[in-house]
Amino acid sequence: MMRKPIIGGNWKMNRGTPSEAKEMLVQLIPLVKGINSVDIVICPPYTALSAVNNILKNSNIKLGGQNMYFEEKGAFTGEISPKFLQAVGCEYVILGHSERRNIFNESDELVNKKLKKALEMNLKPIVAIGEHLEEREAGKTKEIILYQMNETFKDITKEDMKTIVIAYEPIWAIGTGKTATPEQAEEIHVYIRELLIQKYDKEIADSIRIQYGGSMKPENAEDLLSKNNIDGGLVGGASLNAELLAAIIKAAEKTTN
Ligand code: PGA
Repeated sequence: MMRKPIIGGNWKMNRGTPSEAKEMLVQLIPLVKGINSVDIVICPPYTALSAVNNILKNSNIKLGGQNMYFEEKGAFTGEISPKFLQAVGCEYVILGHSERRNIFNESDELVNKKLKKALEMNLKPIVAIGEHLEEREAGKTKEIILYQMNETFKDITKEDMKTIVIAYEPIWAIGTGKTATPEQAEEIHVYIRELLIQKYDKEIADSIRIQYGGSMKPENAEDLLSKNNIDGGLVGGASLNAELLAAIIKAAEKTTN
């Protein structure tokens, strides 16, 4: 089955002023113009969303938030409502990124609540899962993935699963320059699909896009993306640079020819 690759650029807390965002995007837009066989999503910090939305109008690049809260409004100082994300043009939202889980103590239960709300609000969730280095070294990767899949996707219907993108991001590979080998990544992507067959069915498992994330760059993107079960990338560091991100997007485009 042919799944449309999806490349997400997660700027984290790096390019957050409107001018920093603009500087990068005026370079990126012409570089990826006309590429329609790959979904391209940029996730800037909240403070740049509105400016980025204006810049991306009439381009083939979509907008995403990096996080959100599970309520639409209320006394939640410092949080962001899915409604606000929508109002500034977000189509996607990253949920459960390992930095949210590890630095801000987000639990699987919280990610599950956010996921349900995002679906209710028609935002397309990019849900991140992945293991720590110690867990991999202890041979517990699959156990961790199984647990995260069960808890994060608790009570998510088959219909809703169709709009979700899963990002497999081994935590030891994020921002470290250490990439999982294409074989290591593919093994876990296949495992995630097996779990989706058990929990839902083969049709769902075959249709869900699973991105790889963790030090993806032009040098390794083609090898990773050419694996059968790797349907895109969630890119941090390299997404801050227009040429590097465009090269990754073009590597994804190549796999569709
Ligand atoms: P990285 O980040 O590409 O800088 O490793 C990936 C991510 O955190 O999504």
